[in-house]
Amino acid sequence: MDAASHSPDWTIPQGWESYTPQEHKTWVTLYDRQAAILPGRACEPFLRGLAALDLRGTGIPDFRRLSEKLTALTGWSVVAVPGLVPEDVFFEHLAHRRFPAGNFIRTPENLDYLQEPDVFHDVFGHVPMLTDPVFADYMQAYGEGGLRALKLGHLGNLARLYWYTVEFGLLETPEGLRIYGAGIVSSRTETVFALEDPSPNRLGFDLARVLRTPYRIDDFQQVYFVIKSLQSLLDITTQTDFAPLYRDLEHQPDYPIAATTDQDHVFHSGTQAYANSK
Ligand code: PHE
Ligand code: FE
Repeated sequence: MDAASHSPDWTIPQGWESYTPQEHKTWVTLYDRQAAILPGRACEPFLRGLAALDLRGTGIPDFRRLSEKLTALTGWSVVAVPGLVPEDVFFEHLAHRRFPAGNFIRTPENLDYLQEPDVFHDVFGHVPMLTDPVFADYMQAYGEGGLRALKLGHLGNLARLYWYTVEFGLLETPEGLRIYGAGIVSSRTETVFALEDPSPNRLGFDLARVLRTPYRIDDFQQVYFVIKSLQSLLDITTQTDFAPLYRDLEHQPDYPIAATTDQDHVFHSGTQAYANSK
């Protein structure tokens, strides 16, 4: 998309009328695959949001109607963008409670893998959590924090927080570990892997630790961080001034992704955590 053809905030019309029957069918296929495995794995706020927004419908949601429902719940809306947008643009949207979502959908040949987030990842993965008032506040605060990190030259560190919470976060519940991260709930294979595979580390969330942990974008995660509650995530991030943390990080090395330290709280066997819950 060339610079002249989008508005300064990079939003475009969703073009809902232009989706083909095949594209709507792809949405329903993806929806049904996830709906079959998410109960007992995704956290309650996600499942509640999914139901409240009635996302299955007959295909790809119309952002206008979706936004009406979402705005009534938490004041958020969904705006269409052509794909990834510049960081400052992305943060401005979040800071104003607008979630930018790609308007295109993956092809039937690539149901499980895609390089850029499409409408299924963005809407099915992210939007249900935005119906939760606490998570809704967290995402807005993250947008404001992103603008600040950009100015302070530490976006690389803050991006890890987004990755290990918004995209790949796990939540501790009395019934066992549950998923809230959009990158997991929108992926059939990682939904199972994140909770049940013995290989990845599942570590108690520690803010400074997360900011020092790199991530991989090309495979399943080797480490997931587990929060105690959405409220605790909101509290720790909004009550901490990140500027001194960023300064400290300049003198501290990153952690190797797959390593644990004596300070880490390690959750044992995801299989067990999940099985205990049934
Ligand atoms: N409190 C953070 C700061 O001082 C901002 C922030 C809030 C970042 C919530 C992420 C999530 O920069
Ligand atoms: Fe995402």
